[in-house]
Amino acid sequence: MTPDESTLVLGIETSCDETAAALVMGGNDVISSVVSSQIEIHADFGGVVPEIASRAHLEALNPVVARAIVEAGVDGSRIDAVACTVGPGLIGALLVGVSAAKALSLAWDVPFIGVNHLEAHLYSAFLEDPSLEFPLVVLLVSGGHTMLIEMRGHGEYRLLGQTIDDAAGEAFDKVARFLDLGYPGGPAIDATAMNGDPDLIRFPRGLSADRDNLDFSFSGLKTAVMNYVRNHPDVGSADVAASFQTAVVDVLVKKSRRAAEMVGAKGIVLGGGVAANSLLREELLGTCATIGVRGFLPSRAMCTDNAAMIAATGWYRLASDGATALDVGAFPNLKLPLLDA
Ligand code: KG4
Ligand code: ZN
Repeated sequence: MTPDESTLVLGIETSCDETAAALVMGGNDVISSVVSSQIEIHADFGGVVPEIASRAHLEALNPVVARAIVEAGVDGSRIDAVACTVGPGLIGALLVGVSAAKALSLAWDVPFIGVNHLEAHLYSAFLEDPSLEFPLVVLLVSGGHTMLIEMRGHGEYRLLGQTIDDAAGEAFDKVARFLDLGYPGGPAIDATAMNGDPDLIRFPRGLSADRDNLDFSFSGLKTAVMNYVRNHPDVGSADVAASFQTAVVDVLVKKSRRAAEMVGAKGIVLGGGVAANSLLREELLGTCATIGVRGFLPSRAMCTDNAAMIAATGWYRLASDGATALDVGAFPNLKLPLLDA
């Protein structure tokens, strides 16, 4: 089946702690998008508990899919294909979505499309602006990943750099926990930092000495924050949060700029949960204006996990690779498919 402008794809996402379903037409027209977050269920534990996540997905998924269909005002029989995240993510959580998506594809007799969650984050920008021109540099920053990717075309990716230890979101979460700011840490630090002095403490900028090295390191920064707070017990959390956030954003933006210059990118695009960060959004746009390339920031709802990006990616994958066989499993460590060079 070759998808076209009227092809309606149901997307399903259950890789971590959001249960989500969405209907997207023609690869970028979001008809409905429903996200049910488990944040409150996991908050008492300070992080996602895999077994609790799987059970919560089981309970939430059918109502979430039903709501996406009702909000779209269509009948199930109008749906042309079902796309679902097959990895990376928590194995139990992934299997809930994959099993449901296969069952719906069988019941409706429509294609099933297995989607890579990382690739879907790259596509969230295309949902809001399909006219983005290649080559693009994508800064993908989430709780599990920190990557700079050159996107040469649809499905054509080259890895320019990635974290050698903690992901950016992980650093936000760990520092927030240390400062007792709550869970999830990113939004908590973002809000607390608004009242702090970002220049009070000069925290280290990992791997920034070599301009051409586009890899990241955040574990030294995390340790530096902990040591500073232990040695200065009277320092305010807002000042620490602001100085920490500035150190992270400084490295992310400088390396994105260098990446764009190295590949002659037409634009820089943000993706992943950390792309919701206020300072990162502001600084990235400023840098894009300085070097004369387009900066594209998907809305905050599209940056964090959602199923619209899964349905959109499913549409493009159906066009390029066709349907996925129903005997496919779930892949907790799935990687982004990369070009050789
Ligand atoms: O992409 P995502 O929703 O889930 C995956 O990891 O796939 O990203 C979640 C991460 C968490 O680490 C969270 O703390 C971070 O994104 N995050 C933020 C902000 N909002 C979410 N980090 C910094 N500032 C924010 N405003
Ligand atoms: Zn994600």
